[in-house]
Amino acid sequence: MPQSENSSLIRAAEIAAFFDIPRPVTAHDFEDKGNMSHEMYLIRAGTGAETREYLLQRMNNDVFTKPVEVVRSLETCMAAQRAYMEANPLPEGVSWHTVRLVRAAHGRTILEIVDEASIAFWRLMERIPGCVAYKSLSMVQDNDKRLQLAEQAARGLALFGDLTSNMEAEKLSYPLPGYRDTRVYYAQLDSVMGGTRTLDDAGPYLPADETVKEGTQFHFWLHLDDEEYEARLNDPELQPYIDTALENRDLALTLLRAIERGTVRLVAIHGDTKLENFLFDAETGAVRALVDLDTIMPHTWLADWGDMARSLVNVAGEKVSDLGEIRVDLDIFEALARGYLSTAREATDAEIALMVDAVQILALELGVRFLADYLRGDTYFKLAPEDPPDLNKTRAMVQLTLFQELTANAQDMRTIIERYAMARRHP
Ligand SMILES: Nc1ncnc2c1ncn2[C@@H]1O[C@H](COP(=O)(O)OP(=O)(O)O)[C@@H](O)[C@H]1O
Ligand SMILES: [Mg+2]
Repeated sequence: MPQSENSSLIRAAEIAAFFDIPRPVTAHDFEDKGNMSHEMYLIRAGTGAETREYLLQRMNNDVFTKPVEVVRSLETCMAAQRAYMEANPLPEGVSWHTVRLVRAAHGRTILEIVDEASIAFWRLMERIPGCVAYKSLSMVQDNDKRLQLAEQAARGLALFGDLTSNMEAEKLSYPLPGYRDTRVYYAQLDSVMGGTRTLDDAGPYLPADETVKEGTQFHFWLHLDDEEYEARLNDPELQPYIDTALENRDLALTLLRAIERGTVRLVAIHGDTKLENFLFDAETGAVRALVDLDTIMPHTWLADWGDMARSLVNVAGEKVSDLGEIRVDLDIFEALARGYLSTAREATDAEIALMVDAVQILALELGVRFLADYLRGDTYFKLAPEDPPDLNKTRAMVQLTLFQELTANAQDMRTIIERYAMARRHP
């Protein structure tokens, strides 16, 4: 083991030892770590049959600037889930785990470690036992297993929606300013397409809310020289995609408007429903948990659903070079619809009526985000040195092509939703 790795494990074990767990404490690499947290370790505590496993995470406080509030939302969410399960026991055979944070010696679940250079926020959670996670559906070769996985993930989202339905969404803080705010994303696109170069020029486009404004304003102006900007903006290949983004603004705002009109509920959403955040029973494949609760925020669950379905029905992936490969896998969509609608108790008919639109909208919204980022100079979806310079252009074209494919398949998707919605009304 290289020296630095060894010393970071020693340090992780020392940090974990500040928490209330059995001794001795050892730290290990954690294979399944995601990409948001800078650091994550598997912790083993205790001896013999009593050994328990935990996950130690250093919260990324560049991304989450208010870690204490993020943890508060997470704890509120876990408590709400347990309260709901006590009041409304889950059906026979369904087992659902919630994330549990461990308290540190000072009685709190978040540990601040300050040194000369930085301040780091650490937390320790119990590892949910006997589960597996999948980075993508394509990891699963067998078609039936893939459909089963999609169905289970959708069941998990429906359970999460039910279990958190009693949370007071309007009291939650927003973990990332402007996140999932379709209007902000379009305003950024308008602003960069208008050639905005300064904070002053950005004025008319900026959000009214001070916190959102402060957290997002950097992405309202250009970070490219004139020549490169003009080349990107006038790239003939991109024109039809720019048109698609602008022509569908009204549709894109449907979910926000429905929340504002009160036709769909404002609830606590998960905010990052990618497949790898669902845990599945290693033996039976049944969904067991939805983890990574850092992006809980007020919105409609349709945003979680739309984001999950948008990514899972697109079997080609998010960076394909041949846009002709992008297709909507209707079998997967059907598995998702079945999983969600056979499980959800709290979802309303008005919400269910928007389930197809939500998938289109989330693809469109993500396309707009990539497009604006490409045009202004890749300030949000930052490029790694090995990435092609036009990666965000490709990603924008993928999502906007997916949006068009979803639109072309919308009627079939509506038929599928209607079938399972009916089964729900007349079981
Ligand atoms: N409590 C838990 N028990 C078991 N596995 C977990 C738990 N929390 C997270 N994981 C696994 O670790 C991965 C990364 O954790 P996550 O909290 O999602 O971090 P990131 O923010 O880096 O994505 C998850 O995708 C999941 O596979
Ligand atoms: Mg994650």
